[in-house]
Amino acid sequence: MSIAEDGPNKLPNMSLSIIILAAGQGKRMHSDLPKVLQPLAGKPMLGYVIAAAQALVPEAIYVVYGHGGDVVKAAFSSMPLTWVLQAEQLGTGHAVQQVAPLIPDEHQVLILYGDVPLIREATLRRLVGSATEQTLNLLSVDLPDASGYGRVLRDKAGSVYRIVEQKDANRKELAVSEANTGLMVAPARALKRWVAGLSSANAQHEYYLTDIIGMAAKDGFKVEALKAPTATEVLGVNDKVQLASLEAENRLMRARELMLAGATVLDPTRLDVRGAVTVGRDVVIDVNVVFEGTVVLGDRVRIGAGCVLKDSSIASDTVLNPYSVLDSVEVGMHCILGPFARLRPGSRVLNNAHVGNFVELKNTTLGAGSKANHLTYLGDTVVGERVNVGAGTITCNYDGVNKWPTEIHDDAFIGSGSMLVAPVTIGKNAVIGAGSTITKSAAAHALTLTRAKQQTIADWKPPVKASESEKAERIKGSRKNP
Ligand code: UD1
Ligand code: MG
Repeated sequence: MSIAEDGPNKLPNMSLSIIILAAGQGKRMHSDLPKVLQPLAGKPMLGYVIAAAQALVPEAIYVVYGHGGDVVKAAFSSMPLTWVLQAEQLGTGHAVQQVAPLIPDEHQVLILYGDVPLIREATLRRLVGSATEQTLNLLSVDLPDASGYGRVLRDKAGSVYRIVEQKDANRKELAVSEANTGLMVAPARALKRWVAGLSSANAQHEYYLTDIIGMAAKDGFKVEALKAPTATEVLGVNDKVQLASLEAENRLMRARELMLAGATVLDPTRLDVRGAVTVGRDVVIDVNVVFEGTVVLGDRVRIGAGCVLKDSSIASDTVLNPYSVLDSVEVGMHCILGPFARLRPGSRVLNNAHVGNFVELKNTTLGAGSKANHLTYLGDTVVGERVNVGAGTITCNYDGVNKWPTEIHDDAFIGSGSMLVAPVTIGKNAVIGAGSTITKSAAAHALTLTRAKQQTIADWKPPVKASESEKAERIKGSRKNP
């Protein structure tokens, strides 16, 4: 039986408990981070599994933890989960033994793996939907190369009678391409009986949960292996190679969602959607772009190559040129940003404003129609409308201890290379002469500048070659009273 996309989408009449196995160390990761916390698209793998479990609205979710326990628990401390310690990792069957006593006999039990992160809610609903008091439903998948996985063994009539682990399989069994995903659903009463009877007499000296398949078949239960609709959603992650290939699969899926929502993605293999992205009509996204957190892009927004956007919104018709980095900012309509713009948290760029190359904004509002086009730092600043901020302008907002604000009023013109030492206010229509260091507020409608007078020294003599002793004498002199 396979799980058709339009198959039954109901939950069983029996109450549902979900067990997530997450105690494994993940030796093959060679990492200090517990396996289930290894990030996929920036979020721990276990988080995906918990979300899929929560979507089924079960009576309870039990997470079996062990290796790196406190770190794993801490990562999900705000969630309504029941944590069950498996002090020693003696196998998947042993892990289920730790939880079994906590589950009421009349529940159905769905078992998920913390290292199978892309499992979809719809697939789980179908797996659980056909469960009865006399069935054991497991999810299998046909793989061109099933190595590493347990193999699903069927008799001549096609009924599943056992699962054999890779390390225990003979040559004929290894040739079977139907792999066990590990995900299964069984009635609690029978599950408890089966896991209590497990033995560790096998190649890995572990208590294999998969041995309960044979027990169920012997008990006359209907053992159904449902085929997963796609391999991607049941791929287990045991090492960094598998993690990278799942990352790649996930990347394609997420890019596909954006394309189906109407975005033009120049290369779906080079777009990383790590959060929730909403796009308007005719958005164009160039290569090597990363989206994190919640990102909202209005109609006709264009994102240049190599941009990184986190928790930001960009209104219609704005162009983000290549290699710009936005974190927690709000950008209006018809703006032009970058290339190489850096917009830091708390910044707002209002309609028709321009932020050019090597310009950094931190906690700054750039008013409508204003421009800061080259090599500038604006921090804790409110810039009014139609202001021109010249190249190399710096707001000196930090005195080493405190942060101070700067205000630049409408239509002001800041000459290039100016230092605005905050707190300071530049009045409406004020003009600041290039190269000024402004320490006091500058009057509206006037030119303010601080500038050393330019001089020319006509009889200036170019330097002459010094002897070694002259050099030594001069250096010695320079070290007196520094
Ligand atoms: C398991 C299955 C195998 C299946 C594969 C699918 C068994 C015996 N084998 O093998 O048939 O094809 O998954 O990915 O079940 N865990 C614990 N406690 C333990 C051991 C493991 O909680 O003592 C957890 C791990 O954290 C992991 C999951 O159980 O989330 C699976 O363990 P893993 O060691 O990866 O099993 P596989 O060798 O992949
Ligand atoms: Mg595994």
